[in-house]
Amino acid sequence: MEKGTFYITTPIYYPSDKLHIGHTYCTVATDTIARYKRMCGYDVMFLTGTDEHGQKIEEKAKAAGVTPQEFVDNIVTAPGGIKDLWKLMNISNDRFIRTTDDYHVEAVQRIFKKMYEKGDIYKGAYKGMYCTPCESFWTESQLVDGKCPDCGREVHYAEEEAYFFKLSKYAKPVQELLEGGEFLEPASRVNEMINNFIKPGLEDLCVSRTSFSWGIPVDFDPGHVVYVWVDALFNYCTALGLLNDKYSDFDKYWPADVHIVGKEIVRFHSIIWPAMLMSMELPLPKKVYGHGWLVIDGGKMSKSKGNVVDPYKLADMFGVDALRFFLLRTFPFGSDGNFSNELLISTINTDLANDLGNLVSRTTAMAVKYFGGTLPAEREHDALDDELISMAKDAREKYAAQMDKFQLHLALEEVFKLIQRANKYIDETAPWVLAKDEAKKPRLAAVIYNLLETLRIALIMLKPFIPESCDKAFEQIGADEACIAWETAATFGVLPASVTVVKGETLFPRVDMAKALVELEKMNKPAGPVFPPVEPNVTIDDFAKCDMRVCKVLSCEAVKKSEKLLKFTLDDGSGTPRQILSGIHKFYEPEQLVGKTVVAILNLPNRKMMGQDSCGMLLSAVHEENGKEELHLLMLDDNIPAGFRLC
Ligand code: MSP
Repeated sequence: MEKGTFYITTPIYYPSDKLHIGHTYCTVATDTIARYKRMCGYDVMFLTGTDEHGQKIEEKAKAAGVTPQEFVDNIVTAPGGIKDLWKLMNISNDRFIRTTDDYHVEAVQRIFKKMYEKGDIYKGAYKGMYCTPCESFWTESQLVDGKCPDCGREVHYAEEEAYFFKLSKYAKPVQELLEGGEFLEPASRVNEMINNFIKPGLEDLCVSRTSFSWGIPVDFDPGHVVYVWVDALFNYCTALGLLNDKYSDFDKYWPADVHIVGKEIVRFHSIIWPAMLMSMELPLPKKVYGHGWLVIDGGKMSKSKGNVVDPYKLADMFGVDALRFFLLRTFPFGSDGNFSNELLISTINTDLANDLGNLVSRTTAMAVKYFGGTLPAEREHDALDDELISMAKDAREKYAAQMDKFQLHLALEEVFKLIQRANKYIDETAPWVLAKDEAKKPRLAAVIYNLLETLRIALIMLKPFIPESCDKAFEQIGADEACIAWETAATFGVLPASVTVVKGETLFPRVDMAKALVELEKMNKPAGPVFPPVEPNVTIDDFAKCDMRVCKVLSCEAVKKSEKLLKFTLDDGSGTPRQILSGIHKFYEPEQLVGKTVVAILNLPNRKMMGQDSCGMLLSAVHEENGKEELHLLMLDDNIPAGFRLC
């Protein structure tokens, strides 16, 4: 029953921090579509991965005192990292690409060279405004209030020798592609791209960097690394084997059927990506779908705001399927959705515990109570059954129409209409009344059978969303492999006439809202360090005796044979350089500190350390707890001149 191939991708994630519920939303949605397509009989290739290069990662690694590779490994493959999160969330990706994988690195070098040899990449000089967190250069006209149009943060002027991609050459075909109406969805994003980016004039794109080194080297020009977005976008092709020997199914799966991406990266996927593919003379992906964001109180989730929602915690508390379901049931996929714990809990209670969970448990309980678990084959039909049966038979088509448009919440709406109808059917038929009359047993059997069949059909449609729970429910309603195939979902009467049900565990326990909210609140409060109490035991005169001055770090080096000591040469404002030794090597590399403005107490007696003079002491902020020491060297505004006294 194979229907051909279906290649679907998520964006590859930046391992600069742990992933949050927003990333999980994107991956769970893609996974659900992939599972749906597999169920329909497609040969699916589902790719996800990590986008590991770039200045941001290099800087974070430096601050953490590890190599960039160690830094990303720690977020991607270490326990509790990205790969583990996808395993926990039951993500069924067929492949996982890391842009630091050798085969990808080599393939990107070949791709870059190919576009260069074609004349679509050329060398020039870049002058412009640069946003470090987004790794993007912007023209003055693109800035919003002088700030980065993507993230709203400060930009700074930057200039460097660089390679450029002739994006301008492809402006017209890209515009035509977008106007064609099939390539980019939802349609609202098409106008945004054309009006904001294409109409003002597409400028050539800077595609190499020399200001940092954590990237794929341009092999024919040392010192340049490939712009992270060029490196990242081609993952969709290298992971299938483009210009490498690691995989060999490029011809089978390319072009992609759909790239699922968040709204802020639609520009890269719908303008830059097709242009580069045109340059490479490769077929274009069939579709880019730009979904909305999960926001909190209308604003972006961010580490600095402290409102990042941890998927591990929610999955642990409510279950993986409940979390998967909530994300896709609640928010229209193309628009932003406001996340809240209250909404999560009420969705679990209303849809999963009440509507679906109750239907499964009531139906199986009745089958056990009235027939010992196995229904008699003799059944009596009633006109009352017709509406439910016809609704169940039609549901698959309605559901599929929404799934094929990636309207996941509307597809679920179709399923829940059916589930709600079945619950109403229980009230209408009142099986507990039928059970009192032996002569009505065939009628009672029909009612229970119809409920089981409706459940079977609903569960087939729910399986891509909540796979594990559906498997448990199939077992409870006595549906074996043959009864859960997609092909059977538009037919009523597939379960054997004398089906046997098994009463099992409650699929979705009701959540006590008040209790759960308190627990979540507690979990989200960072434990925080415990500081020692303050004792008022110093007089102002004692304090005034300390001569603390502002100093500039002229040079800094590690003291030979010492693991801890750094040797500082400081400008203390006196005109004579001052030497101070400080045991802070564990926290800083010497080159990080040169040029910094620090504070030192100068009127302490000189000390010898490892045979060298130390004339004063640098001030740091320190905290020690559970044997773990944290230290931050006190650094001041660089505008403060050397020699100023602290008081
Ligand atoms: N590395 C790039 C993608 C390169 S693809 C060739 C990137 N990575 S990311 O980790 O920052 O984001 C990955 C995806 O997560 C994006 O599609 C982004 O929109 C999505 N999300 C990040 N936060 C989100 C929400 N709060 N809500 C929904 N999706 C969000 O961009």
